[in-house]
Amino acid sequence: MDNPIGVFDSGVGGLTVVNELIRQLPLENIVYFGDTARVPYGPRSQSEVKDFVFEIISFLISRQVKLVVIACNTATAAGLAQAQAHFDVPIVGVIEPGARGAVQATKNRRIGVIGTAGTINSAAYTQAIRALDAGVTVYSATCPKFVEVVEKGMISDANFLRPKTYNLAKTYLTPLLRAGIDSMILGCTHYPLLKDLLGKVAGGEVALISSAEETAMEVKAILERRGQLREGPDLPIHRFVATLETDQFAALGSRFLGRKITEVEFIDLKADTSVEIS
Ligand code: DGL
Repeated sequence: MDNPIGVFDSGVGGLTVVNELIRQLPLENIVYFGDTARVPYGPRSQSEVKDFVFEIISFLISRQVKLVVIACNTATAAGLAQAQAHFDVPIVGVIEPGARGAVQATKNRRIGVIGTAGTINSAAYTQAIRALDAGVTVYSATCPKFVEVVEKGMISDANFLRPKTYNLAKTYLTPLLRAGIDSMILGCTHYPLLKDLLGKVAGGEVALISSAEETAMEVKAILERRGQLREGPDLPIHRFVATLETDQFAALGSRFLGRKITEVEFIDLKADTSVEIS
């Protein structure tokens, strides 16, 4: 089926998930929506982010997507369940796949989760982990400065292992490490880009889990089950849409995606009459 997979995030972070989708599903057409006008979602209220989720999914459906990936932890926590109940198209979030990866990885059943304030305060990861294994103890921490550190660092090619960032990570992670976690979910789209740093701070015994891989596997399984995988032979089309500053999106996004983004479409959601806010 040629209809694209719709993927969205508050900005460029969800491109880490797109990267994995392209790796696992190289023939699929993709339309990626980065809500750069309203990033970051992390500090916003759940109800505000839930409204964004509905608005963006409505937009993606107007682009005939066959499945939606909420490639943002904060948005998944705020709106996945309600969106799944409301829309007909299959919708996949990043939290359950990450939780599954961690439950499979842990041996001592002490799992750490790091994320934005919105994600951690929602307790969505704790619930998802407990639904899979009620005997797991979850330790979580917000890392409010990481998103900015990653975005600035990607543009300036900064070395994330420098002492200032190392100390920041140490401050955030120390309580989780003291609690004896043996696996840690990188519960924010930006954190996989800090994997080397976090691995150094956490030490080799702590497994670092990023949701991107597990999420792409789930997308593949759903499309397979529904008989909706694209078969080619034409090359796939990957489209990018942003709600602000398309040049900046292309520059930063190319770094997150690991391949050059040449064209970005600007969408003013408020001016787009095809969008219905539920
Ligand atoms: N994409 C967000 C997430 O995964 C991080 C950036 C933001 O706060 O909007 O939680």
